[in-house]
Amino acid sequence: MIDKSLPLVELHRHLDGSIRLETILDLADQHGIALPAKSVADLAPYIHIDDSAPGLMAFLDRFEHMTAVLVDVDACRRVAYENVEDAKSEGIDYIELRYSPWFMAESHGMDPAEVMEACADGVRAAERDTGVRANIIGILSRTYGTETCMKELDAILAHRDHIVGVDLAGDELRYPADLFKAHFKRVRDAGLQVTIHAGEADGPQSVWSAIHDLGATRIGHGFRAIEDSALVDYLAEQGIGLEICPTSNLHTSTVKDYVSHPIKPLAERGVKFCLNTDDPGISAIDIAHEYDVAAPAVGLTPEQVHQSQLDGLQMAFLGDEEKSELQLKVAQRTAL
Ligand code: ADE
Ligand code: ZN
Repeated sequence: MIDKSLPLVELHRHLDGSIRLETILDLADQHGIALPAKSVADLAPYIHIDDSAPGLMAFLDRFEHMTAVLVDVDACRRVAYENVEDAKSEGIDYIELRYSPWFMAESHGMDPAEVMEACADGVRAAERDTGVRANIIGILSRTYGTETCMKELDAILAHRDHIVGVDLAGDELRYPADLFKAHFKRVRDAGLQVTIHAGEADGPQSVWSAIHDLGATRIGHGFRAIEDSALVDYLAEQGIGLEICPTSNLHTSTVKDYVSHPIKPLAERGVKFCLNTDDPGISAIDIAHEYDVAAPAVGLTPEQVHQSQLDGLQMAFLGDEEKSELQLKVAQRTAL
């Protein structure tokens, strides 16, 4: 269960994987984009995950109708704004939203740097209006290959002041982390934090590479670290935290079922983690679902869930002062 006396943070949510069904319909209507359905109920089966095609890449194919409606920068700004509004209604105090500007720009030929800026604009405006603290992580979509990712990085770094870190997402199996050493050298030289999708579709070597080749201080998923005892010890010793998204892992078929999720043994060996949604628009979940349904289903005790909420704040890409401010704000709210 969520402890309301602590800040609730979400560190792993894809902005482009959490577009409201209503917004998809509305944007499609405004811009004459054909969709397979005309109502929320009829559209849901096309966007929400089902059992028809297993695997990470089949999961990522579900983004198709979402990116199809990102027709211009106004649409991007709106989606970004609504992401923060949704975080507010879920009771989230601090959220890190991530997106790949190339992926969002692609279907309508937008300029990825302009997409970067429009989303940042939307996030900042919603931050002011809702009071939710939000930060942005730029994503390099590894599936496009190294050259395009370098251009994507240019677009991201053009808005360096709007972001706190950079991630590598997409097809982990076909595009291993070590291909992107030069990219993440630039990221670190720019003074940005590094979190990498690793140990989700691929094994422990991918996590080692994210840490040693790219300089990751947090790992997106990373649960396959359980296959390498030395890596588990290393994560625990170095305090490299895992951004765990249990329901997403089921939906990408990277774990068989909740019971088989390795987060409990990892936690028992001292690995830090926090609970996240990943792509709530596709998984049809919210953060409460991960705390109330997924966490007990993977076997976490209430104490471990409590600890993960504390660890989430510690893992956040925020300065110590900003973390204290968040704690103070929540303490004041709880005292009311
Ligand atoms: N992009 C969006 N969700 C993702 C995931 N679970 N793994 C890799 N890339 C992603
Ligand atoms: Zn992710």
